[in-house]
Amino acid sequence: MDANEFRDKYLEFFKSKGHVIIPSASLVPKDDPSVLFNTAGMQPLVPYLSGQPHPLGKRLANIQKCIRTVDFDNIGDNTHHTFFQMLGNWSLGDYFKKEVISWSFEFLTDKRWLNLPLKRLAFTVYQGDKIVPKDNESSEIWKSLGVNEARIAFLGKDNFWIAGETGPCGPSTEMFYWTGDAVAPEKFDPADNRWVEIWNDVFMQYHKEKDGSIKPLKQKNVDTGMGFERTLAVLSGKKSAYETD
Ligand code: GLY
Repeated sequence: MDANEFRDKYLEFFKSKGHVIIPSASLVPKDDPSVLFNTAGMQPLVPYLSGQPHPLGKRLANIQKCIRTVDFDNIGDNTHHTFFQMLGNWSLGDYFKKEVISWSFEFLTDKRWLNLPLKRLAFTVYQGDKIVPKDNESSEIWKSLGVNEARIAFLGKDNFWIAGETGPCGPSTEMFYWTGDAVAPEKFDPADNRWVEIWNDVFMQYHKEKDGSIKPLKQKNVDTGMGFERTLAVLSGKKSAYETD
């Protein structure tokens, strides 16, 4: 699959699920002094994730230009770039875990879409902390879709997502693809870097305040982000995201 076909498929899929496609915001954020560059598809949407109504509705999707400065030390490996594109879809107080996990599964595995073999996929979910409960619900949804329990790992801070220090945040579930030459091991080990994270679904239902406390948001949102270049590498059978078209 080439880059254009992949982009078109992503946008077509989320259009078919009732999303409005919005343009990529500028790489240099407008009205957001907290970052120099857009780091994620959700960054320009912070006001709407925080409760302000979006003029185009509650289901949005796009392809956002990003620079993620926290990744700078990893640039040049097979999966990290200075500049990258993020495929994202959002629920602004609309659908939640069941819908988005089912759609992620469908988009990744269905013949009509990416057609990735389930035997090369694995998943992480949030293990919980003092405030946010363990996310058994997401794990059960993956299992109900046919995912083997051995391919689901519960993790801590890697599965709690926030852009920067304060703002909308929440537990996530992440999707990994086996890039090793051999058959993927039955038991998923997230520390084995042949498992590459390609997509995350963040359940943005909290807000982190300046004093470090976490408060529930007035709406439950979904924020997903799929790394365009690294997923394209998988889809085009390349070892490195630098080898894609
Ligand atoms: N969806 C959050 C992120 O990875 O940017």
